[in-house]
Amino acid sequence: MEPFRIKAVEPIPFPDPDQRRRALTDAGFNLFRVPARAITIDLLTDSGTSAMSSAQWAALLDGDESYAGARSYERFEAVVRDLTGYDEVIPVHQGRAAERILLGRLLRPGDVSVANTHFDTTRASVEAAGAVAVDLPSEAPAPAAFGGDISLPALRGLLEGPDGVSVRCVVLTITNNAGGGQPVSLDNVAAARELCTAHGVPLLLDASRFAENAYLITERDPAHAGRPPREVAREVFGLADGCWASLKKDGVANIGGLIALRDTELARRCRDHLIAVEGFPTYGGLAGRDLEALAQGLREVTEPAYLRYRAQTARWFGDRLAEAGLPVLQPTGCHAVYVDAARLLPHVPPHRFPATALANELYLAGAVRVTELGTLVFGRPDPAGGDDLPAPRELVRFCLPRRVYTKSHLEYVAETAATVVAKAAEIPGYRVVEQTGSLRHFTAVLAPI
Ligand code: F0G
Repeated sequence: MEPFRIKAVEPIPFPDPDQRRRALTDAGFNLFRVPARAITIDLLTDSGTSAMSSAQWAALLDGDESYAGARSYERFEAVVRDLTGYDEVIPVHQGRAAERILLGRLLRPGDVSVANTHFDTTRASVEAAGAVAVDLPSEAPAPAAFGGDISLPALRGLLEGPDGVSVRCVVLTITNNAGGGQPVSLDNVAAARELCTAHGVPLLLDASRFAENAYLITERDPAHAGRPPREVAREVFGLADGCWASLKKDGVANIGGLIALRDTELARRCRDHLIAVEGFPTYGGLAGRDLEALAQGLREVTEPAYLRYRAQTARWFGDRLAEAGLPVLQPTGCHAVYVDAARLLPHVPPHRFPATALANELYLAGAVRVTELGTLVFGRPDPAGGDDLPAPRELVRFCLPRRVYTKSHLEYVAETAATVVAKAAEIPGYRVVEQTGSLRHFTAVLAPI
């Protein structure tokens, strides 16, 4: 059960079927364009959507809004140092600012960044620096306990091969969001560390979901069963040279990010740039009160009862969606349940966007909003004007905002899913009416066919 009780509530909208049809049509059949006031249950993302604790709300009032040297920064810095062991702590307004600042200082044109999987904003920052992002995800067949691992044979091959000299950093995204929210094992981090040391390359973490990764290590690796998740998280940070994070996830707050490093010289270069683009180094684009909420959130997020609830919720919800007839990817992680839309809708080919089709139908059936992670996001228009080049998989992500929805909210989503499954054969595909060059999924206008 939820390891908290509810002190403040926010009413949720219940648009009727006509209102839903109108909202989706007006939005060009793109859920990013549907206003939140027309959504009953919003599982679009776990980013910035958390409910804060009473301790976080109380901490807000104590925010020190001084431009320079704020007390709130000192608290934030102390919590991050204690957690990560890195001395250099730089706040930023969200994850992609951290990526742009850090990777922009580290990478030069022609360099290579290697990762288990670069999240899409990370890849964009690597490419903006003129460097190349190489993904080497684990080759372990699904379902794997640590499907988020980096492939060690492939990493070794790259570092020892002719392109090895161009590798400027190895990145582990924990948990691996783009790879189904799966964790990276401690053994994998340790082995990557050894390879990085042998080749003189820094090992960096995209630690946006570091607490969930640590908890899943204690659940799935018998060697670490029963260990406090915070201790495991510290060990993971201890193996790396630095990290960045979107604190809109495991910071359990609505905004924030960080860069934390051992390398003083690299941190100095980041701070110099930070002043130009984010703000003074003791607030980095955040208010003092945000830093207070984050300092408190970073303490709460490793509580075992909270993390157990989070993993159990995802597992329970995955089972309900599977009972409703959706092809659920197993094992579930913590922050989301992923569903294979291509298997549910075999009559909708990739260039007709099966993941979008399923997501839109869930909205029409019950004003539930989920994310499409299929050809609209990861596919590409064919330069020769033919059908879109398909994404590797047609996934729909049911994300779980932290501490926001109860079991009965998620039961409602499963009931809605069952009504969609019942009419799966009639669900139409889509065509793109209007789109931009990159990140088209945020703004594209579609039409059913
Ligand atoms: N890294 C990972 C692993 C992420 O999941 C995200 C964001 C970012 C970096 C970028 O952070 O949004 O604070 O700038 N993921 C969100 C999501 C958007 O819905 O999965 P940001």
